Amino acid sequence: MTNEKRVTKAVIPVAGLGTRFLPATKAMPKEMLPVVDKPAIQYVVEEAVKSGLHNMLMITGRNKRSLEDHFDRVPFIEQTLEKKGDTEKLAAVRQPTELGDIHYLRQGDPKGLGHAVLRAKQHVDNEPFAVLLGDDLIDENEDLLTQMIDVQQRTGGSVVGLIEVDPSQISSYGCADIETVDGESYVKVKQMVEKPSVEEAPSNLAMIGRYVLHPRVFDVLEKTGPGRGGEIQLTDALQTLAAADGEGAGVYGVVFRGRRYDTGDKLSYLQAVMTIASERKDIGPELRTWLKEFTAGLDD
Ligand code: G1P
Repeated sequence: MTNEKRVTKAVIPVAGLGTRFLPATKAMPKEMLPVVDKPAIQYVVEEAVKSGLHNMLMITGRNKRSLEDHFDRVPFIEQTLEKKGDTEKLAAVRQPTELGDIHYLRQGDPKGLGHAVLRAKQHVDNEPFAVLLGDDLIDENEDLLTQMIDVQQRTGGSVVGLIEVDPSQISSYGCADIETVDGESYVKVKQMVEKPSVEEAPSNLAMIGRYVLHPRVFDVLEKTGPGRGGEIQLTDALQTLAAADGEGAGVYGVVFRGRRYDTGDKLSYLQAVMTIASERKDIGPELRTWLKEFTAGLDD
């Protein structure tokens, strides 16, 4: 155990335009798309809270006000439900407002994920912190983020969440080249490349949208120029930290083999909704029966 400060804050970048879901996201943030009956962002906030992070900062942009409304009280609906005695729905409406202390800061210029994270510098101050990206949903029975926080506290560096992907998929992700650490379940990350081609990729380990970062990343991000796609890439800043020495240097990885859902594009979003819905106690049994009938009638 190092003398690391505790991790208490989560940064959640939500300024992305969500162009993959147009026209649904023309007047509504992609983070508000429902995954069964909760917006995707609520799963992410619940995951942060479950890992003990009650202080959250969302890096937002234009057109994202409904996110703030979602996590705020709504007296009119609450009073109506109270009068009706509908305690179940009342609890569902109140639950997102009781998830901790959520702060909001606009990103301003859309200069990429690294830039969005740098905007959190003043709020986070000199403490290690988590970053959660809204396109990745981690099953509520998994404890990836808690494990990553533990690795950060033990190593004093930064930690990324990794999954093995089919090599053909690697160009959608940051890719990490790793080495094992004797006697540990986490790995050391030697090199990271943002969205490499299949030929360039040093491995088939993809970085997913979970990070626990040492605050030194802010100093690095301030000096990081535009990378892939002309954007300031978090992956590039982490690469600098992986190669650095001294306090806050070093990047480690937790290879996640549990259940994760991707809501980042139309097909994977629909798969996420169907998987989560089919496991729900209320609608799951009927949905599964219907799905079997439906798929049996599908042509190849
Ligand atoms: C970002 C990161 C990328 C990471 C991915 C995970 O990319 O830049 O390294 O693999 O999130 O979801 P984006 O999907 O925002 O383009």
